[in-house]
Amino acid sequence: MTDQPIFEPFTLGALTLDNRIVMAPLTRNRAGKGLVPSELAATYYAQRASAGLIISEATQVSAQAQGYQDTPGLYTAEQIAGWRKVTDAVHAKGGRIFVQLWHVGRVSHVDLQPGGNAPVAPSAIRAATKTFVNNGFHDVSEPRALELDELPALVEDFRQAAANAIAAGFDGVEVHGANGYLLEQFVKDGANQRTDRYGGTIENRARLLLEVTAAVAKEIGAERTGVRISPVSPASDISCSDPQPQYDYIVEQLNALGVVYLHVVEGATGGPRDVAPFDYDALRSRFKQVYLANNGYDLDLATDRIAQGKTDLVAFGRAFISNPDLVERLSANAPLAPLDPATLYGGGAKGYTDYPALT
Ligand SMILES: Cc1cc2nc3c(=O)[nH]c(=O)nc-3n(C[C@H](O)[C@H](O)[C@H](O)COP(=O)(O)O)c2cc1C
Repeated sequence: MTDQPIFEPFTLGALTLDNRIVMAPLTRNRAGKGLVPSELAATYYAQRASAGLIISEATQVSAQAQGYQDTPGLYTAEQIAGWRKVTDAVHAKGGRIFVQLWHVGRVSHVDLQPGGNAPVAPSAIRAATKTFVNNGFHDVSEPRALELDELPALVEDFRQAAANAIAAGFDGVEVHGANGYLLEQFVKDGANQRTDRYGGTIENRARLLLEVTAAVAKEIGAERTGVRISPVSPASDISCSDPQPQYDYIVEQLNALGVVYLHVVEGATGGPRDVAPFDYDALRSRFKQVYLANNGYDLDLATDRIAQGKTDLVAFGRAFISNPDLVERLSANAPLAPLDPATLYGGGAKGYTDYPALT
């Protein structure tokens, strides 16, 4: 089994990954005071450093970008210093780590927003979804539509956070364009009813995602910039009437920017892979750089898809929560430990750093 390409080194931009197994971004709601990653976070990520690449939990680019309690940020000096401990710990074990940068947009709650203000969105359309706030799941708040003249500052928040990521020792940045958060809210017409140049046509709806990605790539280099998308996922109550042409266009534009990887959640995030028809192979063949597939993969599907040339890398999410040594277990064909759903969001070491490796 260990002679499979999935267990062999892979070149990603200027990096050599030890293998093609990627740890997917996983929000765990354990940041401390000032939304700084906790000391435990360094242990947690270092335990998983045998992944070819770790993508961090979603990390907000500003105070306004937060939508769940106790998620870490990357916009203060304390947060940068906290993340530096994480990246040092991962690098000391020979691992590689990108940070996933997000803005939640309308998936937030007034109790998390600066000044108790309404969350922001492309349009004032409330999502029928809940967020984790005040130690429980509660309906998201009614958002307000962003003014046209607010958008440059938003792009700037991502650019600054990308610069901060490099200061914190990250190997690169993943722009979170998936799962119903702000950038995807602009892309998908179920959440975007704007009539200005950020709404309506496919080109207009893609504009903010592409501007953010261009700003990040310009700041840190396209070879250190990846993008995550989820073309048909209904996560966080999002919908899109024309995902195929929409994402075909986005991929063409990402080619022009030269970003190093395209991370695609195939199907409904954490749910059925066939939730709606979509031609992922068309995206894969259109995209010139590295394709990173995710959602519901096991070793068989991953090795199959790599063998067929349908993907370069595969990201595993839930399996990494309860199997810090996932790479070793897969290569030994060892059983995987189940995760405890009660300890996913919030809390301390239990269900976070206490899942054992096989001895
Ligand atoms: C606890 C948990 C937290 C997650 N947090 C994030 C996140 O911060 N950013 C993101 O893009 N996806 C997030 N996801 C989605 C995962 O990255 C992944 O797409 C999903 O689990 C499907 O992959 P899997 O079948 O290998 O688990 C999260 C999923 C879970 C279960």
